[in-house]
Amino acid sequence: MVLILGMPFLKKYQEIISKTSIPPEAVLLKRVLIFSLSVFLLIFAYLFLRKGAVDIRVVNQSIAWVSVILIGLSFALSGLCFFWNFADKYIIYRKHLGLVGFWFAVGHVSLTLFNLSKKFNLVDFFMSKERFNYFITGALALIIFAVMASISNRYAVHELGGKTWRRVLRFGYVAFALATAHFIFVGLTQWQKWFTGFKGLPPLGIAIIVFALFVFILRICLEVAVRLKKKETSEDTNTPATV
Ligand code: HEM
Repeated sequence: MVLILGMPFLKKYQEIISKTSIPPEAVLLKRVLIFSLSVFLLIFAYLFLRKGAVDIRVVNQSIAWVSVILIGLSFALSGLCFFWNFADKYIIYRKHLGLVGFWFAVGHVSLTLFNLSKKFNLVDFFMSKERFNYFITGALALIIFAVMASISNRYAVHELGGKTWRRVLRFGYVAFALATAHFIFVGLTQWQKWFTGFKGLPPLGIAIIVFALFVFILRICLEVAVRLKKKETSEDTNTPATV
């Protein structure tokens, strides 16, 4: 594992890609789908052990957690590949992890709305004081992820231009922050119960919040490293050559 600092991200990315043999899109997607299914089964088993029962809520929560994990991994790959080289071969899965993560989020929202609509009036349910915060954070996250998914293609890069396209994709971190706030709002009461003495396995959200923090910290470190490098390069070019 080698720490690689001081190379602009785009250059580093192109260097990794030039050394990697890229399988066809369908193969990449198939591998990510198999990975997602494995993560789903692990989470499902954990939630089953924690709750001691299986119902549609457990399925829905497992789908939602897979979405957070896939999207988080997709974001983390940039930082991981910038600073170290152990994850280089996975950078080619960044787009597919994000896209499959988005479709899991769509699955979660559809299942949530379908389940709740059988018992409640959805407007009353989500507009209530205690639930509005998790509705609005979830809904905004989903909208931003949908925009990102819709521009994850060559046509959009061409139409928007590389710079604007990358800028729009950066909003993904805002969406990831909103999704994190969403699962904190949803799970907080359970977390408090566990911390104040509830026996049993910890709520999954406690582990995922650590993962989410890691994703954000990695992004901040990447931003700082890239800015420092840019400054260094511009200082080098502005220094007159000594004779
Ligand atoms: C309109 C958008 C959304 C709505 C209305 C919504 C609604 C809900 C509801 C009602 C729950 C509780 C389910 C239960 O306990 O049975 C929940 C849980 C959850 N949601 Fe969403 N959601 C939305 C979007 C999202 C998005 C975009 C993500 C992430 C990408 C997400 C991630 C989660 C997670 C991880 C949980 C599980 C929290 C826990 O069990 O502690 N949600 N959501």
